[in-house]
Amino acid sequence: MASTWLRSLCLLTLYLTCGYGQDGKFSGPLKPMTFSIFEGQEPSQVIFQFKANSPAVRFELTGETDGIFMIEDNGLLYYTRTLDRETRVVHHLQLAALNSQGGVVEGPVPITIEVKDVNDNRPTFLQSRYEGSVRQNSRPGKPFMYVNATDLDDPATLNGQLFYQIVIQLPSVNNVRYFQINNKTGGISLTREGSQELDPVKNAFYNLVVSVKDMGGQSENSFSDTTSVDITVRENIWKAPEPVEITENSTDPHPIKITQVQWNDPGAYYSLVNKEKLPQFPFSIDQEGNIYVTQPLDREEKDSHVFFATAKDESGKLLAFPLDIQVKVIDINDNPPTCPSEVTVFEVQENEALGSNIGLFTAHDMDEANTVNSILKYKLVDQTPKIPSDGLFLIQEYEGKVQLGKHSLKKQDNPQYNLTVEVADRDFKTLCSVQVNVIDINDQIPIFEVSDYGNMTLSEDAAVGSTILVIQATDGDEPLTGSSKILYKVVQGDPEGRLEVTTDPQTNAGYVKIKKPLDFETEPVTSIVFKAENPEPLVDNVQYNASSFASFKLIVTDVNEAPVFPQRIFLAKVREDAAIGTKVGNVTARDPESLAVSYSLSGDKRGWLKIDSVTGEIFSAAPLDRETESVYRVQVEATEIAGSSLSTTAEFHLALTDVNDNPPRLAKEYTGLFFCHPLSAPQSLVFEATDDDQLSSWRPQFTFALGSASLQNDWEVSKINGTHARLSTKHTGFEERVYEIPILLSDGGQPPMEGTVSLSVTFCQCVEGSCFRPAGSHDGIPTVGMAVGILLTTFLVIGTILAVVFIRIKKDKGNDNVENPKSPETKPLRS
Ligand SMILES: *[C@@H]1O[C@H](CO)[C@@H](O)[C@H](O)[C@H]1NC(C)=O
Ligand SMILES: *[C@@H]1O[C@H](CO)[C@@H](O)[C@H](O)[C@H]1NC(C)=O
Ligand SMILES: *[C@@H]1O[C@H](CO)[C@@H](O)[C@H](O)[C@H]1NC(C)=O
Ligand SMILES: *[C@@H]1O[C@H](CO)[C@@H](O)[C@H](O)[C@H]1NC(C)=O
Ligand SMILES: *[C@@H]1O[C@H](CO)[C@@H](O)[C@H](O)[C@H]1NC(C)=O
Ligand SMILES: *[C@@H]1O[C@H](CO)[C@@H](O)[C@H](O)[C@H]1NC(C)=O
Ligand SMILES: *[C@@H]1O[C@H](CO)[C@@H](O)[C@H](O)[C@H]1NC(C)=O
Ligand SMILES: *[C@@H]1O[C@H](CO)[C@@H](O)[C@H](O)[C@H]1NC(C)=O
Repeated sequence: MASTWLRSLCLLTLYLTCGYGQDGKFSGPLKPMTFSIFEGQEPSQVIFQFKANSPAVRFELTGETDGIFMIEDNGLLYYTRTLDRETRVVHHLQLAALNSQGGVVEGPVPITIEVKDVNDNRPTFLQSRYEGSVRQNSRPGKPFMYVNATDLDDPATLNGQLFYQIVIQLPSVNNVRYFQINNKTGGISLTREGSQELDPVKNAFYNLVVSVKDMGGQSENSFSDTTSVDITVRENIWKAPEPVEITENSTDPHPIKITQVQWNDPGAYYSLVNKEKLPQFPFSIDQEGNIYVTQPLDREEKDSHVFFATAKDESGKLLAFPLDIQVKVIDINDNPPTCPSEVTVFEVQENEALGSNIGLFTAHDMDEANTVNSILKYKLVDQTPKIPSDGLFLIQEYEGKVQLGKHSLKKQDNPQYNLTVEVADRDFKTLCSVQVNVIDINDQIPIFEVSDYGNMTLSEDAAVGSTILVIQATDGDEPLTGSSKILYKVVQGDPEGRLEVTTDPQTNAGYVKIKKPLDFETEPVTSIVFKAENPEPLVDNVQYNASSFASFKLIVTDVNEAPVFPQRIFLAKVREDAAIGTKVGNVTARDPESLAVSYSLSGDKRGWLKIDSVTGEIFSAAPLDRETESVYRVQVEATEIAGSSLSTTAEFHLALTDVNDNPPRLAKEYTGLFFCHPLSAPQSLVFEATDDDQLSSWRPQFTFALGSASLQNDWEVSKINGTHARLSTKHTGFEERVYEIPILLSDGGQPPMEGTVSLSVTFCQCVEGSCFRPAGSHDGIPTVGMAVGILLTTFLVIGTILAVVFIRIKKDKGNDNVENPKSPETKPLRS
């Protein structure tokens, strides 16, 4: 009765620690003990009953009892008032047993009462209203303010774990959340949307209702509190400044301040990022955010710069997005015009008329195009010689076109004039040389040596840049002038511009070259027509005629390419027990010329496979065995049947999946198993089985049995787990000899495979834990144990009595191979 009552009380009040002591869960002798009790429980509950031994008659409880903990004379420890963890977390008490005179008989021993938390306190915000402000475009996730609640419950338990949440955001636009709160710290920050969209011009004031829950917010029974948070959005002054313009080639002392950035709060660390990775970065920033250019810039080298300015906190973390700083370099006219070459050479024919265009003279200016700094003016300032007169030539002021300024020239007057052209921009003048050669009239046309260069066959893979033909025309005009020089053009048959002709200036030979790859499929046969022309115009009454044209036929042939496999390696999978002739896979190759393809196999070293030479299907040709080759690798070859019998090889990998075709066996050779004879108690040994099959995701689950029913009186086999079993003796009356124990192993596979193995167990006398077998009683091959035995036999002859004593002392000792199934060891009680 009393014990039932105690037990139910105990279950009500005690947490876990009831089980102390050997006398029972709820009573026991005086010793140091720890109890855990939930706060807030009904009072007047028994915690434990201590038992006193005579002469003790009562107990005395001291320490932090707070008037709550009492002990009766009969040892009942109980508490009289509800415990409160928030008042005291642990009560340290001392308990002593006293005799009738009040003298301490036992103890005092420490008794510790831990008060366990229950969620009996609400979380409370420290303020009912919070105010904060955030800059527009602040980094998402970086808290700009905190709300903070407290909960008296144990923060190490869920009861004291607080969970913050934003319940309402006002105003709410399209339900977009601009603010987020860290559910553990109460830190309020902007969301990505908030960082992008908040704008004090549109709306500067937001109000949040934030709740806090205890129980980590995870329980329906958690307490909660709410607070109101007013947030002002302030303008972001961290903004990219206007693009800066810097005049190039400045002679002012550097560095020169060009612009400024500023972080929203003081104390930021500014730096620039050389985004364009210039080897020399000509900008710097100081810790007020002022940005400087450190050296004169050159627009002609780089006309604009873009880089980043960053603001970081003291730990080096970016406070916000980097700002783009854009610098445009303004041109000044610091470059004179330059001549196109040292001497520019023009030609003019004897008979050309007044105003004829002789050539275009173009100088260059590095300064910014289309500005006054680069607009050029041309002027002829000298003509040498002035024979028959000065002013034979004109140049157009802005265009640079050189024209004949007077009547036509005569070569016998003077064959060459040197002109000086002045080129001027706004500030600079440059003098350039122009040479005009007077040449014979162009009254002869180029005439091809042959009009038909015949047929030419090229394969479509002919190399780009190779010369395929040399053509030749001749011109009777003055050598080495524009009247006799020949330019060859392809005027028919090559709209794609696959060919080009270059002229040897000395011999006027034309080299026809491949400029772009030929394509059989577009145009297998083309008639090409060349025209030979002079750079100088022909005189009025002469025209190019058919003799200035020549043709040839270009025949592009297809290139025979080897068959192509769609993949380099073909993978296939088959069960290892597949019947001979099973299709295990197929390969296909395609010939680019659409020739038929024949398939063959190579590297089939085990002769397991054959291939259908027409379809590419692959079949098994012999029994397969995963235990021999888990992945069987052969090569497949595809050969064109006609054509040049080109062939291609690919890999064919056949993965063999396991089937259960191996019986289980012992995992190792168990030799030298022995028990010491005579047995003092039943013995046992552990052995392990294995299996050569390795079915994927298959963990062996062997079953074990004695192989012969007649052994069942002496032996027992019991399974430990899927791979291990124990062989035990059923009694101790075994002879001193070798026992062969057949064991039946089964692997439980599909289908199951069974195997019978044999364990040899020797019963022998033991010496120092080793097996001793008298010579003569053995059969079979001598073992190490027997060698020891023979040695010991000799030893025995010398000192029989001594040896007997020795053996008697040692014979009870167990050895490593034998497990003692019983463990009589008793553990000391915890105190
Ligand atoms: C919240 O208040 C508690 C108690 O005042 C204090 O220990 C804690 O540091 C505060 N936490 C924050 C984030 O201000
Ligand atoms: C609390 O916040 C963390 C990230 O700060 C998040 O991983 C977690 O899911 C949140 N807990 C709940 C219950 O929302
Ligand atoms: C700077 O200008 C001077 C003339 O004004 C010129 O000689 C010099 O080459 C210029 N430097 C660069 C880098 O353009
Ligand atoms: C023109 O100048 C070149 C050098 O540039 C010189 O060799 C040639 O003799 C000059 N011709 C005349 C006609 O002065
Ligand atoms: C050139 O080829 C054409 C067919 O394209 C053929 O008719 C002609 O006889 C061939 N000429 C020579 C010279 O081989
Ligand atoms: C083309 O003209 C030249 C003279 O300029 C003449 O010798 C030749 O025979 C002409 N050719 C044809 C095909 O008329
Ligand atoms: C094997 O043959 C089938 C049809 O016969 C075809 O769809 C498949 O693409 C072939 N596989 C390979 C790898 O060639
Ligand atoms: C099976 O039991 C043996 C002996 O107790 C142990 O060594 C082995 O780890 C066990 N194997 C598994 C898979 O539990």
